[in-house]
Amino acid sequence: MKTVYLVIGIFTLSIILVSFKPESAKIKGNEKSVLSSSVMPEDIFMKLADNSMKYPFVQQKLNYSYDALEPNIDQLTMEIHYSRHHAAYTENFNKAVESSDLKEKSLFEIFGMMSKLPAAVRNNGGGYYNHLMFWQIMAPNAGGQPTGELAKAIEMEFGSFDKFKEKFNEAAKTQFGSGWAWLSVTKEGKLVISKTPNQDNPLMDLAEVKGIPVLCLDVWEHA
Ligand code: FE2
Repeated sequence: MKTVYLVIGIFTLSIILVSFKPESAKIKGNEKSVLSSSVMPEDIFMKLADNSMKYPFVQQKLNYSYDALEPNIDQLTMEIHYSRHHAAYTENFNKAVESSDLKEKSLFEIFGMMSKLPAAVRNNGGGYYNHLMFWQIMAPNAGGQPTGELAKAIEMEFGSFDKFKEKFNEAAKTQFGSGWAWLSVTKEGKLVISKTPNQDNPLMDLAEVKGIPVLCLDVWEHA
């Protein structure tokens, strides 16, 4: 099974990085301002992460068909993963928020106080957001190495794109049990690789390594 993860990891990295921009950069339209910052104040960091997603949370449509990523990810896996797993996280997250006082909070505000919230919010909120990003960063007929500021930042932080891939795959392979591997931008404006258990993510206040996710890899068996 770990071999499968490795294959998926390499595949994911090779098809997405060329065109993907960090979540924060998409919001601000200026990738350089994130990756070149030496220190990022807490309020600015949270503002970059806040994309105003609020209840009711919507499962965005896939931009490609279930079979578009074959042979790397088969049609049935994609269909089950999207239409059952992610749909369930979305539905259950909405239910958990609906019956709480979190309705007016943004998704990222909720993540920022996750250590104080019930397990249903943590598991389903993470499952909702993590998969949202997962579908978005993959695409058929994409691929190659990243360019521009992201390429420079990867080289500066990890030495080379190949070394980065090696470290990212290592994080995915060594996640014990279900979870995710991440590439994130820290408050200091640095790229960092981490892994989280279950449906946790680096935006949560309880994450060991915090940051704004740039890239993620689902290492659950259902992926
Ligand atoms: Fe998943």
